[in-house]
Amino acid sequence: MKHASPPHDSSITHVTGESEYVDDRTMLAGELFVGCFYLKVAHAEIDAIDTSAALKIPGVAAIVTAKDVAHNAWGPIFQDQPIIADKVTEFAGEVLAVVGATTPEALRRGLAAIKIRHRTRPAILTIGEAITRKSFIGGERFIRRGDVDKALNDAPHRMSGKLVIKGADHFYLENQSAVAYPKEAGQMEVHSSTQHPTETQHVVAEALGVNFSDVVCIVKRLGGGFGGKESQSSPIAAYAALVANKTKRAARIVLTKDDDMIMTGKRNPFEIHYEVGFDKKGNILALRSRLYSDGGAYADLSTAIMERAMLHSDNAYFIANVEVIGQVCKTNCHPHTAFRGFGGPKGVAVIEGIIEDIARELKLDALDIRKSNVYREGHDVTHYGQVVENNRLPSLFNELEKTSDYRRRRSDISLFNHNVLTATNRFSPGAETLRGLSMTAVKFGISFTTKFLNQGNALVQVHRDGSIQVSTGAVEMGQGVNTRIAMLVAEEFGVSLDTIRVMTTSTEKNANTSPTAASTGTDINGAAAVLAAQKIKQRLSALALKLAIISPENWPSKTAGLGSFPEIEIDTLDDSPGLTDFSGNKIVIPRRKLSNVSSNNTATGQLKNAERFSISFPQLVNEAYLSRISLGEYGHHRTENLGFNKLTGQGQAFQYFSQGAALSEVEVNRHSGEIKVRRVDILMDVGRPINESLDIGQVSGAFVQGMGWVTTENLVYDNEGYLLSHSPSTYKIPSVQDTPREFNITLDHNPGNKANIRGTKAVGEPPLLLAISVWSAVKDAIRYVSERDADHLAFNRTHLLPIPATAEQTLRHLDPHLFTAPVIK
Ligand code: MTE
Ligand code: HPA
Ligand code: MOS
Repeated sequence: MKHASPPHDSSITHVTGESEYVDDRTMLAGELFVGCFYLKVAHAEIDAIDTSAALKIPGVAAIVTAKDVAHNAWGPIFQDQPIIADKVTEFAGEVLAVVGATTPEALRRGLAAIKIRHRTRPAILTIGEAITRKSFIGGERFIRRGDVDKALNDAPHRMSGKLVIKGADHFYLENQSAVAYPKEAGQMEVHSSTQHPTETQHVVAEALGVNFSDVVCIVKRLGGGFGGKESQSSPIAAYAALVANKTKRAARIVLTKDDDMIMTGKRNPFEIHYEVGFDKKGNILALRSRLYSDGGAYADLSTAIMERAMLHSDNAYFIANVEVIGQVCKTNCHPHTAFRGFGGPKGVAVIEGIIEDIARELKLDALDIRKSNVYREGHDVTHYGQVVENNRLPSLFNELEKTSDYRRRRSDISLFNHNVLTATNRFSPGAETLRGLSMTAVKFGISFTTKFLNQGNALVQVHRDGSIQVSTGAVEMGQGVNTRIAMLVAEEFGVSLDTIRVMTTSTEKNANTSPTAASTGTDINGAAAVLAAQKIKQRLSALALKLAIISPENWPSKTAGLGSFPEIEIDTLDDSPGLTDFSGNKIVIPRRKLSNVSSNNTATGQLKNAERFSISFPQLVNEAYLSRISLGEYGHHRTENLGFNKLTGQGQAFQYFSQGAALSEVEVNRHSGEIKVRRVDILMDVGRPINESLDIGQVSGAFVQGMGWVTTENLVYDNEGYLLSHSPSTYKIPSVQDTPREFNITLDHNPGNKANIRGTKAVGEPPLLLAISVWSAVKDAIRYVSERDADHLAFNRTHLLPIPATAEQTLRHLDPHLFTAPVIK
C-alpha cells in the first residue's frame, strides 16, 4: 500500500536558509550576550567568587550568581539541582556564575576575569566507586516474575557476565540556546530551543520569583534535541532570563559546542551484571540482571531512564523467570539525561548480547535462538505483566530472514572468514578483514511510563477563507511532528494540506503540556488536534444540514449584513457529522441522507428533487462566521488504559509496542579494529504510517545515530572528571562515509494496530535500538576467532565487548595478545 508522503513542512526553508532558529532572531538594541562560568574539577567547595574585576571590564553589563536566583532548585522529577551552584560544585561544568555583556569579546573577557577560591574534594567518577561508597539516587527498583533461583539452578546451562555501556553526546547541530525579552510588570518572554516549553516556563518563573502566568515560552523549532533538550534546556533559558531581568535588556545565550558538551549531561552510562540459564536449544529459562547507571551529580531523568531499561530487559523475547533490579548511582559527572531510546537501548543490548553469547556457547546460529525465544502465542506476557498485543515479532524475523537472504549470506560469511583465518599471511590482501552478521529486534513500549505525562492539548482555528491554524504542545525538532499533525487535521476536515499551518509552539496557547519525548509527539498532540477539529466539524455539519434546506438567497452571506432573515441556529447535539462527508475541500450530504433531514423540516421544499447538497469548505466556514458560530476549538487528549505500578513493577506500562528487526553485516579490520558496515536490512513496524517518507527518514537517522553510540562515539574524561572529548575533532559521530554501504529500509504492512490514532505507531526512538545489531555483528565476527582458539574464547567469555565497540576495543577482543597495557578508559 502506497501512501502519499508530502515533504516535511520546513524542507524548502531549511534548504534556502529561511528557517528560523533561536540564534537567527534579530538582535534588539542593547541586547546582551550571555555565557557561563564553571570549574574544570568534579567536586569542590567554593569559598568565594569575586566578580568585581569582571564587572569593571567595559561591556560587561551584569553578573548573576546563586544569590540572584529566587528559587534556586529545579529538576524534572526531583527538584534537587541548583540553577546556579553556590557553596559547592558537584561536577566539572556546573554553572557558578552567568555573565551578560554587550559583545562576545566582552563576554569572553568578563568570564576570564571572574576569580574563585575553592578547595577540591574527593570525587566519585565511576559506577564502581559509587557502588562501593553507596552513593545512590533514589532506591533500588525491582521487576520480578517466576522463581529465578530455582530456574537458574535447574537450567542445563548457565552464563554470567558484566556488560559495560558508556554514554554518548546528543550532538544536536543547534546547541543549547535561548533569548529572553523582559516585558512590562515583571513579565518575561523566552524563546528557547527546548523539547519542553512548559518546564522551561516553570523553571524560568521560579528562577525569577514570578507566577507561571508571567512567563511565556515560545519554541519555533529545534536544530535537533534527541532528548538532550527534554530537561536540560530549562536552566539555560533561566540564565538568559536572569540576566534579562537584572538588566531589563534582551539577553541571548547560545552555548559553544565545547561548553555544551562539557556542561550538559549525556546518555547514562550503565554497568549490568547478569546471570542467565538456558537449555541445550538455547531457550532462555531465567534471567537475573542488576542494572547500575551513572546518574551523574543530580537526578534529572535518570530514575525514569532506569525504569525504561528494566522494562526493556526482555526486548523481543519471552522469559518465564525474570528478576531485574535497577539502581541509579550518584557520581560527580554532569547529570545524565534523556537520549533517544531513553533506557531502552541499555536493557535491549544486554539480552541481545546474551543471545549472541549463548549461540557461541552452543555452536548454534543466533537467529535460530532468537526465533525460538521470541514472543508468540501462549508466550506473550512480559515480565511486568503486559500482554504483547499486535505482536509482529515472529513475522518480522521470518520476513526479514527471507528478504535479506540471511541463510545464504551466513554461509558466504562463514566461508569468507574461514579463508581469512586460514590464510598463511594475515597481511595478505583479502586476509585483513573479518566479517560478521547479526539480526536483532526491537519491541519499544510507547507511552511515558509516568502516567500523567500521557496527555496533550491543541488549539485549532479555522479562518474565514477556510485556511486553518493548529497549535499544540508538540515541538518540531526535525522529526516531522508538524507535518504529521497537519496531515491528520487535513484528513479530518477533508481539506488539502496546503491550507493547514502548524504554528509556533507557545505556552500562551498550549499550557500544561508534556515534553515532546518518548516518541509520543504525534500520538498525543495529533489526537488532541483531531479532537478539536471534530468539535468544529460537528458545528459545521449541523450548519450544512440547515443550509441544505434554506434557499441560498436566504443564506447568511446574503442576509446577515441587512438582518433581513433570521440567523441560523444550530443544534450541536445532533449526530450531523454522520450525515455529512468532508472530503475534497467540500462538504457533501448524499440524497439518501438528505431526505432524512428534509422530511421532518418545514422550512422550504427546495430539496425535494435535489440529488445531493454540496458546499465548499471555505463557503461553509464563511456562512458559519456570519451565523456567529465558533470556528475555534480546544482539544484535550489522554491516553487510555495505562496503569503501571512502580512499586510492584507490574501493569500496563505502554499503550502499544513499535516493533522492528534489522540485519547488519559488518567488516572488521584485523589490524586496526576499524568497523565498516557493509549492509543493513531493516523491517520496521510503525502500524499504519501517516507519512512513509518521514518515517523512513526517522528509521535511517535513528539507526545511524545508534551506530555512532555502539561504535565510534567515545567520551573521554580526565582524572578530574572533566570531559576531554568535547568537540567533533575528538568525538567521532557517524559521517556520511560511515552510513551502511547498502541500506534497505522497509515499513512492515500492519493494518492491525487498534491502539493509537488512525492505527499509526510512533517511530522516533525505536529504530535506534536496531543499531545494536551492528555491535552484535562485531561480536559475531569475533566469534569466528574464538571457534578456533580456546584462549581467545576464554578471554571473550570473561571480557564482554563493551559499548561502544571502538576500534581499540574491537581489536583487543579480536586479538588480546596485541595488548599489554590495560584498557584505556
Ligand atoms: N528526529 C530529529 N530529526 N531530531 C530530533 O531531535 N529526536 C528523537 C526523535 N527523532 C529527534 C528526532 C527523539 S529522542 C524523540 S523522543 C522523538 O523524535 C520526539 O518526537 P516525536 O514524539 O514527534 O517522534
Ligand atoms: N521517555 C521520555 N521522557 C520521559 C519518559 C519516557 O518514558 N518519562 C518521563 N520523561
Ligand atoms: Mo526522546 S529521548 O524521549 O526526547
